[in-house]
Amino acid sequence: MERHLEQLDAAAAAWREREWPAPDALLVSGSGLAVELPGATSHRAGLAEVIPLRVRGIDGHPLEFVLLEPLPGRFVAYQRGRLHSYQGYDANDTVFVVRLAALLGARTLIMSNAAGGVHRTQKAGEIVIVNDQINLTGLNPLRGELPPDWGPQFVDMVDAHDPDLGLLAATVAGELDLPCSRGVYAGFAGPTFETPAEVNMARTMGADLVGMSTVLEVIAARHMGLRCLCFSLVANLAAGVTGEKIDHEEVLVASRAASDQIRRILTALLTRSELYA
Ligand code: HPA
Repeated sequence: MERHLEQLDAAAAAWREREWPAPDALLVSGSGLAVELPGATSHRAGLAEVIPLRVRGIDGHPLEFVLLEPLPGRFVAYQRGRLHSYQGYDANDTVFVVRLAALLGARTLIMSNAAGGVHRTQKAGEIVIVNDQINLTGLNPLRGELPPDWGPQFVDMVDAHDPDLGLLAATVAGELDLPCSRGVYAGFAGPTFETPAEVNMARTMGADLVGMSTVLEVIAARHMGLRCLCFSLVANLAAGVTGEKIDHEEVLVASRAASDQIRRILTALLTRSELYA
């Protein structure tokens, strides 16, 4: 924990030294969903330059950081690609950038991820606004002793996925004629895909989506008072739902195909002042 705090201090100091403006919001996308967004400033860096961790991308995607200014004076730190616990990162490392953004003053966390749909009625390519989550990773970034001024030890997780932001996102998507459904995201540790029995369990528990990210970031964000909004792309139907095998390549292809829809929604969303309220 001491190492984590020192690294966060160093990263915040480096951010200020670089004279990058403080972010109002943090946007984290899965590497397969990394899209170009408008408002990009000249502030762009590899993630390894921003955070003092050994950064390892997956699928050869570079992890990078872009500072956007979608509205005059509103800055969004955009992390393209994330650190997952299945890559061997501990829970604190997976939420490093969330904490860094919070310490720099960000009030909102926006995320996208690729997920498996647990219902036969879902389709690959569908976009879901997450309205709640189930943490099945066995991990929690709030274990241990954290600085008391960051937030309470026992964090209220009601409305962890902010209902007002969810409504705003649905409105923006509707205006673009890209209707989104709503659903509960169950986060597994991975990196194996779920077994069909695990998918049945998740569905029985009330989940609509299964994935390997996001839940720890939301916990860390709520701890520090950030409002959270998450878009899941249904990249495939989860194991056992259709009887077909899940292929990582297919997941990537479906993600890329839908990334343009995500890009359009995010582009419109980032220009809405309510996002920063
Ligand atoms: N399960 C877990 N994570 C995923 C899946 C899945 O089926 N598809 C994309 N990410």
